[in-house]
Amino acid sequence: MTAGRYHPVAAILHWTIAAVIIGQIIGGLYMHGLPNSSPVKFDLYQLHKSFGLTVLFLSLVRLGWRLTHKTPPLPPSVPPWQKIAAHATHWAFYVLMILTPLAGWAIVSVSPTDIPTKWFGLIPVPHLPFFGGVEDREAAEHLFEEQHEVLAKIIIGLLILHAGAALKHAFVDKDGVFQSMVPAANRAWLGLAGIFAVLGAASLFYLFAAETPAQATPSRSQSDRGVGNWVVDYGQSELVFIGSENGNEFRGAFGNFEADITFDPDNLDDAEIRVMVTTSSATTGDSLRDSNLPGSEWFDVKNHPQATFESDNVRALGDGQYAANGTLIIKDVERPVTLEFGLDIEGDEAHAAGHANLVRTNFNLGENSSWFEEEGVALEVRVEFEIHAKRKN
Ligand code: HEM
Ligand code: HEM
Repeated sequence: MTAGRYHPVAAILHWTIAAVIIGQIIGGLYMHGLPNSSPVKFDLYQLHKSFGLTVLFLSLVRLGWRLTHKTPPLPPSVPPWQKIAAHATHWAFYVLMILTPLAGWAIVSVSPTDIPTKWFGLIPVPHLPFFGGVEDREAAEHLFEEQHEVLAKIIIGLLILHAGAALKHAFVDKDGVFQSMVPAANRAWLGLAGIFAVLGAASLFYLFAAETPAQATPSRSQSDRGVGNWVVDYGQSELVFIGSENGNEFRGAFGNFEADITFDPDNLDDAEIRVMVTTSSATTGDSLRDSNLPGSEWFDVKNHPQATFESDNVRALGDGQYAANGTLIIKDVERPVTLEFGLDIEGDEAHAAGHANLVRTNFNLGENSSWFEEEGVALEVRVEFEIHAKRKN
């Protein structure tokens, strides 16, 4: 005896939600493991949020459908304990299909980074309303991250049981239970293909057409496309910042910056140094601290994806030492800054190492943060850089 079939609407929703959830788990784990400097991380997070909210919406539709429609009974050949296990799994899935994306939505709603959510770059999605009064946003964010991860892990466990049982029905029992979820009508397959075409098109739109902060982010020039008479070897160069939190020194780095350098020690009048730094590429190795850096309190990467330094003049201090006076712009605040550096040119290869000292609140960095308090992050930040470059031919 064979079981009946699920309505094509239930089947379309089942397979769409299943595929997207599996993609969310793989994508979620992958994106979480990427370093902040990865140029795709930001976009993956935005896509993860868009697909996850799609799961939430479709799951609510599906729950509504389930509560108002009959499902085909399992065949009598299925032992009672398996029937109970199947029902328990199905209802647990409904709970997880709704709670997991809600926990994800809660993460972005309480996060101090306050990055807005736009469904595939098209439809603005507000933050969840319940968290206006939350004081310790970092702790709340951390809590929801943990819950989101645990819920996703429970889905993985149930999925193994559920898919295993479904495949056993299909290949061992051959009792029609698997077939009950496979829609017979061609129209249903067209419907499924239609949903995936819409989601695929929305993803492509997000990646290529939607205005996103990440698109304003420059990618590191790998060749000699930069201006000036030197080509920076970014693999050997670094831009580091050193601060102190609660009296302990920490070091961070910008993984992504570009420098256009026109420099000839015999003609300093024409010397020009321009450095463009991708603010979202800042990392310090501490995940809690790093999760705060892109937010509006700190680099506000959404509105200010770049920080720049542009020299006005370069002076020789003697003994291979130089000082470049110029303007540093962070978060639209312009301040005069002097970079002091030592330079060593051998043939066509140059090595420069230097530093500048900044007061971070002059650039509105972390001025309202709880870290601003006495015990928090010191106001002085030292920026150190090391540049290896080759002369352009
Ligand atoms: C995370 C992914 C998945 C979720 C959340 C999920 C969820 C569900 C739910 C809630 C039901 C109950 C049907 C209803 O109440 O409308 C169901 C039934 C079913 N699922 Fe899945 N499913 C997933 C993945 C899969 C996979 C990968 C397979 C196949 C390998 C599969 C095969 C089936 C079959 C055959 C049924 C009908 C079985 C029955 O009526 O007892 N599912 N699924
Ligand atoms: C059913 C849908 C979803 C599934 C299965 C899912 C799954 C996952 C997984 C497996 C991770 C990696 C967890 C980790 O390694 O810490 C993750 C991370 C994340 N998800 Fe989801 N997710 C879903 C929906 C959403 C939604 C709707 C949002 C927001 C609107 C969201 C926001 C996030 C964020 C912000 C992270 C990163 C958390 C962190 O860095 O620790 N997710 N998700």
